[in-house]
Amino acid sequence: MIRIPFNRPYATGKEIDYIRAAITTPKLSGDGSFTARCHQLLEQSLGIPKALLTTSCTHALEMAALLLNIGPGDEVIVPAFTFPSAANAFMLHGAKPVFVDIRADTLNIDESQIEQRITARTKAIFLVHYAGVGCEMDTIMTIARRRGTAVVEDNAHGLYGKYRGQYLGTLGQLATLSFHETKNLSCGEGGALLINDAQFNQRAEILREKGTDRSRFFRGEIDKYTWVDIGSSYLPSDVLAAFLRAQLEHRDQIQAMRRQIWETYARELDSWAEANGVRLPIVPAECEQSYHMFYVIMPSLESRQALISHLAGFGILAVFHYLPLHLSPMGLRFGGRHGDCPVTEDLADRLLRFPFFTGMTSSEQTQVIDAVRAFHC
Ligand SMILES: Cc1ncc(COP(=O)(O)O)c(C=O)c1O
Repeated sequence: MIRIPFNRPYATGKEIDYIRAAITTPKLSGDGSFTARCHQLLEQSLGIPKALLTTSCTHALEMAALLLNIGPGDEVIVPAFTFPSAANAFMLHGAKPVFVDIRADTLNIDESQIEQRITARTKAIFLVHYAGVGCEMDTIMTIARRRGTAVVEDNAHGLYGKYRGQYLGTLGQLATLSFHETKNLSCGEGGALLINDAQFNQRAEILREKGTDRSRFFRGEIDKYTWVDIGSSYLPSDVLAAFLRAQLEHRDQIQAMRRQIWETYARELDSWAEANGVRLPIVPAECEQSYHMFYVIMPSLESRQALISHLAGFGILAVFHYLPLHLSPMGLRFGGRHGDCPVTEDLADRLLRFPFFTGMTSSEQTQVIDAVRAFHC
């Protein structure tokens, strides 16, 4: 029986008040007053011109692919170690993924391998700030500018993390957030598109509203709305935005709680890691992480699996993470082969994530730490 889950959703207490308020307003669909407040909180706290809530990070990634007009024959650079949504977003439009291996230290896309994979067909780089530790953005943005490709930051893990003092999600032309229940801030299922290049503002609103100019109509800028482009329904109900508003307002407290849990793991497991050949996460000096997860790199696949079983014996759920995309059934269809991305293949087998969630009690964390320390490779 699992006593300490991998994740437990956290509520600040204010969510229920805001949801009650949302259901007493005359507007429960998308883009009501709670959505507007979430947009404002994101824009002000990140210092960006435009944020749009979406129903998921997956949908925000799909919007990014639409905004960049990615289509058949195009190629998109994507790390081999990420969630399938980053690849699905452009593959839905017939584009081809070009998988790039990751760095052994941060598990982010290896910037030194990007340029050699860019061709005349490359439309964009969809990168991920793994565990909320920034990719090497200076190098990546320089390559992207030189080669004329867009950069989309999948920042599902990294809200309020920074790279060289700048918030993750504010560096590429477009960026995405996730508010899934496993993320630092959540509304169960949800996401956002961050727009750092104003040329996308108007079309993003249209794509999100079923291809119509309904957003302009609601703002009173036009007297009727109509079908003007392709699109879909990417906006969440204001009930979800009410939940999210409470989380965004408490972002500093939530981040501080997560930071404390992360630092306790790092401090208390340091000697155990060293004695057992286990690697703790690496955060380069130029990065301020978002405290999204705590993972370790075990010496082997066998020791990783053995530690999962050992912890399960104490009622503790520890989990691995992404399987290499290029070796998945979909990746194989695009020509993926063993050995294409050796760092991804190696680390995906050895990575293990410990229970990590806002509101984890110190007693729960002590039980995890004690159980981990009782394991020897
Ligand atoms: C890097 C990354 N991007 C995107 C997603 C998908 O997020 P969502 O569930 O909000 O669509 C995930 C899911 O965990 C993820 O890890």
